[in-house]
Order: sequence, then C-alpha cells, then structure tokens
Amino acid sequence: MHSIIHKAEESFLKSHLIILGSPNSDWSQFNLSADELAFIQLKIKNGQKSIEINQYSRYVFVECFDQNDQPSLMFENARKRGAAMLKRCNEVHIDAVSIVDEMDEKLSMYVAEGMALANYQFLKYFTDSESKKNSLKVIRIDESDAEIRKLNAVIDGVLHARDLVNEPLSYLTALQFSQDIVTLGAAAGFEVEVFHKEQIEALNMGGLLAVNKGTLEPPTFNVLTYRADAPKNSKPIVLVGKGIVYDTGGLSLKPTENSMDIMKCDMGGAASVVGVLYAIAKAKIPIHVIGLIPATENRPGLSAYAPGDVIHMMDGTSVEVLNTDAEGRLVMADALSYAKKYNPELVVDFATLTGAAVRAIGKYGIVAMGAVNSSVKNALIESGHMTHERLAMMPFWDEYADLLKSDIADLKNLGPAEAGHITAGKFLAHFTDYPWMHLDIAGPAFLSQDDHYRLKGGTGTGVRLMFDFLLKESGYLGAGSN
Ligand code: BES
Ligand code: MN
Ligand code: ZN
Repeated sequence: MHSIIHKAEESFLKSHLIILGSPNSDWSQFNLSADELAFIQLKIKNGQKSIEINQYSRYVFVECFDQNDQPSLMFENARKRGAAMLKRCNEVHIDAVSIVDEMDEKLSMYVAEGMALANYQFLKYFTDSESKKNSLKVIRIDESDAEIRKLNAVIDGVLHARDLVNEPLSYLTALQFSQDIVTLGAAAGFEVEVFHKEQIEALNMGGLLAVNKGTLEPPTFNVLTYRADAPKNSKPIVLVGKGIVYDTGGLSLKPTENSMDIMKCDMGGAASVVGVLYAIAKAKIPIHVIGLIPATENRPGLSAYAPGDVIHMMDGTSVEVLNTDAEGRLVMADALSYAKKYNPELVVDFATLTGAAVRAIGKYGIVAMGAVNSSVKNALIESGHMTHERLAMMPFWDEYADLLKSDIADLKNLGPAEAGHITAGKFLAHFTDYPWMHLDIAGPAFLSQDDHYRLKGGTGTGVRLMFDFLLKESGYLGAGSN
C-alpha cells in the first residue's frame, strides 16, 4: 500500500496548494497577485467557502472553515471537505498537492485523511484499470514524521479492509482470506497462525464446523498476534471479526429479493480486524492485541446443516439451530470461547451480524452492546465521535436473553422478530466471561452509494475507531517519538 501522505517540502509554495483558513486569515503569504487576493476577499465576503484559482503553473484552493466549538464535528467537516477537494484534484489531473494549515486545529490531518480515503479505488477486475486510475498520488502536510506515519498506517489499514470486503467469493474463499491475512501480516509486522479444518475439529468448534458443512471449501480459524516490545497492557486486548466470506443464508436461503447481492460483505468484521492489526503494527503502537477470525462460507450444500439441528459449540453449549441464516453468531460464539484462553483485558467483536441493526440505525453508526466498565465504554464512545464511526449503545437487559431459551437445548440461535440485534448480542454474551463489547456493523460496512470519503462498496468501518481507541489506551501519542 502506497502511504499517500508525505511531509511538506521547502518548495511547497510552487506546488498545487490547498490553503485551510478562516474568513479572516492572511492570504498574502502564498505568492498570490493583488488581483487574486482581491478575488479571494470578494468571494469570502460573499460567503463562499471553497475558492479555486488556476495560475496554470499551479492550482490554489482556498478552503475557509468556521471555528466550530465541537472538535469532532469540525474534524468530520474537514474530512468531507477533503473528499470534495480530492474529487476536484483528480478532475484537473493533479498528481501532488500540498496542504497549508492556517488554522490551529491540525485540520490538515483531517483534510488529508478525507482525501486519502476518498482516493480509494478497487480496479482489479477492469481490463483497462490503468486508464481508470486517479491522478493524485501525493498529499503533503506540515506535520511530524510520527504523526504522518500514524496517519498513513491507519489509512492503509482502512484501504486493505476495503479491498478484502470488495473481493468477491470467486476470489476470497476462506483459504484465500487466510493467505491474504498472512501476506498483510508479513507486510505490516504481525504474526498469523492459520488453523485448518482438522485443527478446528480438534478444538471442537461446532459452530464454525456446522456453518461450513454445506460448502465445498474448507473453513479456517485465524489467530493474528501483534505484541510490541514493551506493550502498555499486560493482558491482551482481543478483537474478534465475523469472517463469513459469503452468506447465502444456507438452507434457510435468504428470502428477500437481491439481499444476497452484497453478501460478499459478510466478512466485513474480519476485514476490519485485519485492518486494525495492520495499522497498529505499521504504526508500532506499544500494545498487545490478538485478532481472532473464524472464516467460512454459509451455503446450502447437500450436507448443509438444517433448521432443527442441535449442534455442540466449542465450550460444550448445545444450540438448536432454527435458522441457518443466523450463522454469524455461531462462528462468532466459538471465537469468543477461544478468546477466554488469553485471559483478555478486553474483547471487542466486529460483525455484520443482523439486518435488525440496519433497520435500527441505518448506515450512520455502529450498533453497540456489552459489558465493560464505564471508563472503557466512554473511551470507545469518544473514539467513535472523534473518528465519526459512532456507537449507538443498545439496552442489554437480562430479559433479552430469555428470548433464546430452547425447548430441547441450552440455547436456540433465533429470537423473536423484535430486537433481533440485541438477542443476537445476547447469544454471543453466553460465550463470554470477560469485559466485552459487541459492535454490529451490518449498516455501515458496505454502502450502495458514495458518502463523502466513505465510498460505495466496502468501507472498512471500525478500523479508524479501534485505532484511535488503542492509540489512547497505549498512552502513545507519538509526538516527537519514533
Ligand atoms: N449477514 C447477515 C446480516 C446482514 C444483513 C449483514 C444485511 C449485512 C447486511 C446475517 O447473517 C443474517 O442473515 N442475519 C439474519 C438473522 C436472522 C435470521 C435471525 C437477519 O438479520 O435477517
Ligand atoms: Mn446470515
Ligand atoms: Zn451473515
């Protein structure tokens, strides 16, 4: 991955320029003519926020920001402006641009972030991909090496997650997914251990094996490890990601027209976990994090698991399967059981788990629930605001767990029609005995339309959220360090 953000050069005034300022900034220091300065003043007076000057040898883009009292909204505004600037840069075939920040808010970081994320393309399957490539290759900002390295690390983590989500099943089987994770681990500096079917059987991961029964392709269980030399946390933080590389629903075949079209996104949680590991390893955050990814398709083959089946999970729990389309909780449950062996400080899981989560809040945020202390909860919520990957905390009352009582087994995998996102979370909770937060990303993981810097297709939702959280957990702010 290219690391599109670079350090500002001495000669930046000669390059294409984006100037971030407020309506009363001093624009006279950027080699603009008297006419151009008067033009800018006039436009600003008329309330225009984005002003473009074509000097032929360079473009100058003036971007005015209002001082907003809520930083998180100002940062998100800056990312969105970045996405708009990016579009314009590619329209006029600019290959490199420098951002000058006249504000005191580190806005150039957020503008650059929005630009970099909006510059993403998934061109692998076009025969003429070369001609479709965006022109912009370099974004320069005046920040420390440490800040730039962190920013590139998290951006590249998001872009790798998007690539993985956008890959169809015709490429990304569970085995291929594991291979790609190994490749990314080698590139970023985290370890990957891949368990194959025999080892998954030996571990008695009955949930993962049941979902895999109808497929021709074997499952994998992936353990990703990143441990810095002197990690801040003594007990690891474990991230679990749903890795259903394709979800047909199984024998309970998906009933809604076209609902299968986007189901290559059902490993979005797993992709985000890979993206987070990539980012923290690249940025060398002083922390110890484990990623766990159960991977398989969910397909109705001749030997597929059937509604009514009773299966035994890794921890011995018996589960009556009443709907084979509620497969995510089965593979996630085994991974959550596996997480116990680490005696984790915290477990966070990412899953495109339920349509109910989408109906509850749409693509605008992450449906969250679980049991963590209030300082961890507040830190996660705060990271959600700062990255605009916001958490919507759900009630998690005991009564929801009662809805999963089975007549013939310890649990059933299907609750009633109401609160399906919460009963799914309660199913998972049964397999946890540590501080744990469940993030249902079914809404934001995959978009059907561009949304500023979140583009159509896989979004990599969760990577920026978790990177911000882990960065703060580690106490590593990067300033001046390397
Ligand atoms: N992968 C789906 C959830 C999903 C829906 C992801 C929309 C992305 C977009 C999940 O496996 C599923 O099928 N959930 C069922 C559960 C139900 C059968 C209890 C659902 O939500 O309909
Ligand atoms: Mn399903
Ligand atoms: Zn699914």
